[in-house]
Amino acid sequence: MNRTRSRALQQRAERYFPGGVNSPVRAFRAVGGAPPFIDHAEGAYLFDADGNRYIDYFGSWGPMILGHAFPPVVEAIARAARNSASFGASTAAEADLAERIVTCYPAIEKMRFVSSGTEATMSAIRLARAATGRKIIVKFEGCYHGHSDGLLVKAGSGVATFGIPGSAGVPEEIAHLTLALPYNDLAALEAAFDAHPGAIAAIILEPIVGNAGCIPPHTGPVAMSPESDLQIHPETRKAWEDMHGPSDFLEGLRTLTRKHGALLIVDEVMTGFRVALGGACQLYALDPDLVTLGKIVGGGLPVGVFGGKRQLMDLLAPLGPVYQAGTLSGNPLAMAAGLATIGYLQQHAAEVYAQLEAKSRTVAEGVAQEAARAGIALTTNRVGAMWTWFFTGGPVTNYEQAAKSDTAAFGRFHRAMLEQGIWLPPSQFEAAFLSTAHSDADIATTIAAARVAFASAQP
Ligand SMILES: Cc1ncc(COP(=O)(O)O)c(C=O)c1O
Repeated sequence: MNRTRSRALQQRAERYFPGGVNSPVRAFRAVGGAPPFIDHAEGAYLFDADGNRYIDYFGSWGPMILGHAFPPVVEAIARAARNSASFGASTAAEADLAERIVTCYPAIEKMRFVSSGTEATMSAIRLARAATGRKIIVKFEGCYHGHSDGLLVKAGSGVATFGIPGSAGVPEEIAHLTLALPYNDLAALEAAFDAHPGAIAAIILEPIVGNAGCIPPHTGPVAMSPESDLQIHPETRKAWEDMHGPSDFLEGLRTLTRKHGALLIVDEVMTGFRVALGGACQLYALDPDLVTLGKIVGGGLPVGVFGGKRQLMDLLAPLGPVYQAGTLSGNPLAMAAGLATIGYLQQHAAEVYAQLEAKSRTVAEGVAQEAARAGIALTTNRVGAMWTWFFTGGPVTNYEQAAKSDTAAFGRFHRAMLEQGIWLPPSQFEAAFLSTAHSDADIATTIAAARVAFASAQP
């Protein structure tokens, strides 16, 4: 594939931006090769500056669930832009989008719009600390919640990609207030609560990890709390378990946080509206104290949301003492793109999510079968339209196991796929995404390309 123009554009970009990029993982350091520069995109396809076409499996890192330049979203943005790009004052569109969000996320009674996922999680944590009067935050290894100081400890995504434990420039005093525990390990969490009695303000997690590659929460029968364990009729118990979803890990988090007076912050920046309309909260019947959203909720424009119980949210200024603000928060273009996207998803939810599930299963399993045929050890983790092919025999249930992947083999696979016009996320520690625009033919092309890639990867 000829990428002469992309190479020239990269060289120019390197004069102005560290690594030539405005977000590190875009630089392709983890997989080698030069990143194509995008000219435009449509549906499931990206077109680079040299006119090459790629089937897109990273969807701008998640937001583009309806494909690129989806006409209703484009029209909504254009319409809003004609009325001015920003006012810095309230508009009806903010509450219009909020109404849609609360319908999908019952745990969110009130919310604030911000401009990124980073801002959403950072603000949720400030609120949790203020509400509890405690300082320590628990996160899980390999989970990424944006790049605010306290959340970069053992973060996945770019931090994992570049093999660094956190970030320079984060003072020890701040890093010490974050405990990073292994994901899917309730015993480690119980031990942390015992070791820091009355000091843990909140647990924040990706309910389905995407930023260490895709790692689902452990599933298993959900235990009832001991006091209700005594004489529950088996049918009632079964109904209760059905209602409470199949993840004993997530349910255990909820039980432990309540027991120890800590808040549960579910970071659905990636999973929100992706794995289901109501995200992982819907999938696993979770009732967190605070939820953070981003990516899809902005339809490709910069939006983040944090929200939750009214009592907590009313602690924010101007009603309460917790300060949080933003010049472009609730920006009219972003609200318009979000409304068009979420509106479409709500209106077509049954068919959209069934389609995403079926197509994602076909491509994820199809590529896995090609790997098996070629004798390559691969572990495929998937929840709906997000998944990762880990180059390891597996299983992959936490970051430590994900880190055993053969990243060099992933890099070869990535390059071989890109050469055939398939653009996968450029790191082993990222999730792939599919949109409603991907066709059966795109998927067949992808599986055929994987066959070629695995054949050329044979030692
Ligand atoms: C789960 C999660 N939380 C937070 C963030 C940060 O969002 P943003 O990049 O919009 O700041 C990300 C970004 O990838 C994410 O995946």
